[in-house]
Amino acid sequence: MSSSSRETMLDPLKSWKFMIWPTIIFKPIDLFFFLLKSILAIFIVASFSLFLYSVFSSQPQQWLPSSTCNNQKFITPNNISTQTQEKTDLSHIQFGIGGSAKTWNNRRRYCELWWRPNVTRGFVWLDEKPQNYEKLPPNSPPYKISGDTSSFKYTSWYGSRSAVRMARIVKESFELGLENVRWFVMGDDDTVFFLENLVTVLNKYDHNQMYYIGGNSESVEQDVIHSYNMAYGGGGFAISYPLATELVRVLDGCINRYHSFYGSDQKVQGCMSEIGIPVTKELGFHQVDIRGNPYGLLAGHPLAPLVSLHHLDYVESIFPRMTQIESLKKLISAYEKDPSRALQHSFCYDLKRNWSISVSWGYTLQLYPSLVTAKILETPLLTFKSWRSWHNEPFTFNTRPIGDDTCQKPIVFWFDRVERVKDDWTLTSYTRHFEESEKDCDRQDYAPALAVRFFNVSSSKLNPSIWNMAPRRQCCEVIHDGNGADGQIQVKIRGCKRFESVTPP
Ligand SMILES: *[C@@H]1O[C@H](CO)[C@@H](O)[C@H](O)[C@H]1NC(C)=O
Ligand SMILES: *[C@@H]1O[C@H](CO)[C@@H](O)[C@H](O)[C@H]1NC(C)=O
Ligand SMILES: *[C@@H]1O[C@H](CO)[C@@H](O)[C@H](O)[C@H]1NC(C)=O
Ligand SMILES: *[C@@H]1O[C@H](CO)[C@@H](O)[C@H](O)[C@H]1NC(C)=O
Repeated sequence: MSSSSRETMLDPLKSWKFMIWPTIIFKPIDLFFFLLKSILAIFIVASFSLFLYSVFSSQPQQWLPSSTCNNQKFITPNNISTQTQEKTDLSHIQFGIGGSAKTWNNRRRYCELWWRPNVTRGFVWLDEKPQNYEKLPPNSPPYKISGDTSSFKYTSWYGSRSAVRMARIVKESFELGLENVRWFVMGDDDTVFFLENLVTVLNKYDHNQMYYIGGNSESVEQDVIHSYNMAYGGGGFAISYPLATELVRVLDGCINRYHSFYGSDQKVQGCMSEIGIPVTKELGFHQVDIRGNPYGLLAGHPLAPLVSLHHLDYVESIFPRMTQIESLKKLISAYEKDPSRALQHSFCYDLKRNWSISVSWGYTLQLYPSLVTAKILETPLLTFKSWRSWHNEPFTFNTRPIGDDTCQKPIVFWFDRVERVKDDWTLTSYTRHFEESEKDCDRQDYAPALAVRFFNVSSSKLNPSIWNMAPRRQCCEVIHDGNGADGQIQVKIRGCKRFESVTPP
């Protein structure tokens, strides 16, 4: 309660006292009523003060780890007001990664891309000691062995019992009693988190309230079978401390009650449903429940910070002629220079030649030798299939098919390198990649566009605070083209001006 609201509550009392004051000088009956009213007033003021005292002096901390819990590592923060105001950073997150000893040697390569020793906190939870664990590199997350789950019920005929163990990771993580945890973030051993953006997204929410944050599957068939109302485990999800406190009390019961559910994320969501907490969907968590080429999904990223990618062993490499790990390192090299901007779209027209340019920052640039509407440019190209049935549809977002006609396809440029020009400015370049099998469009009007060798794109570092504001895609402009003579085009990304829109002439 703020001090101003307290004042307004006291005001009526004050005016009431002044109202009765002049009545005393007259009759004894008035005196009697005056005394009665005074006693009443004193009583009311006293009980109100007592009420205020009890409200403001009590400890509003029941949800915090209490010293009655088993572990001596628990602390009770003694200054809740400063703790609330301090922004959430990486140190406030405890990760719980679901893994298995058998797959760890392969999957840990994904974790090692984002894990920061002595910075990120948490563990990968394995079924048994991994092989060669003494030789694991320092950027491999430390492991814990999960507790025995053989007494739990599991009846999904197409699933694996390990889902029970995975579902209990949040509980086992909680019970470690690490200090000053605001969020438990769950992920798979093949989830790649983009940490700065994860922190940016979590900072949008009050960690003192009960939040369950994540994303859906991209494939509608998955959402229909599993649920639209759950945060998919591979994309990763975040549970605030107060919610975890409630969740761990009921989790084991839910695991048995929802024994027929396939996945651990579903069992957790069963509990959420009992607690009454819906998932808060954030568009940057990517389950990547797709098959084939993920190009269209990444190049058509929604206007939200990139938080996670998953299932990278199940899709083609995100950059051509590279392994998936090399590809991710490349994407991360751009991401690190400007985390908020990673994969963000900007569209502009080159009106001298009636070309359209679509940048997906740090990943790809598409050149169309025609004026294409923003509506079309923002729609992901259908380069992939659905997860379960390998169909062309449906997905939880619109897609546009790519035909076989090369003259209908954009000319695709791939992120090549990034450099920081000044403190706040980056320059990314995008080059063409020639597939031997692929023939270019041989139409006359395509020739000048095909002569472009690379794009250089400059942009200032995107301040993460923009994600707390109403979202708006940034604008871009072609700043120098040299008439294509040197085969390079310069593009500048910037905030849109007032009344600026991507509108063809
Ligand atoms: C709590 O934080 C406030 C604001 O930073 C500070 O003024 C106060 O001294 C702190 N109290 C304790 C008990 O640490
Ligand atoms: C992490 O901390 C431990 C103990 O303080 C230290 O021995 C180790 O060198 C640190 N590792 C890194 C990569 O900083
Ligand atoms: C670009 O398109 C506009 C509108 O369709 C047209 O009027 C103009 O002549 C075109 N310019 C070029 C250089 O083709
Ligand atoms: C544009 O990018 C290319 C290729 O990365 C690079 O060699 C060149 O120096 C860049 N041009 C400018 C003006 O920065």
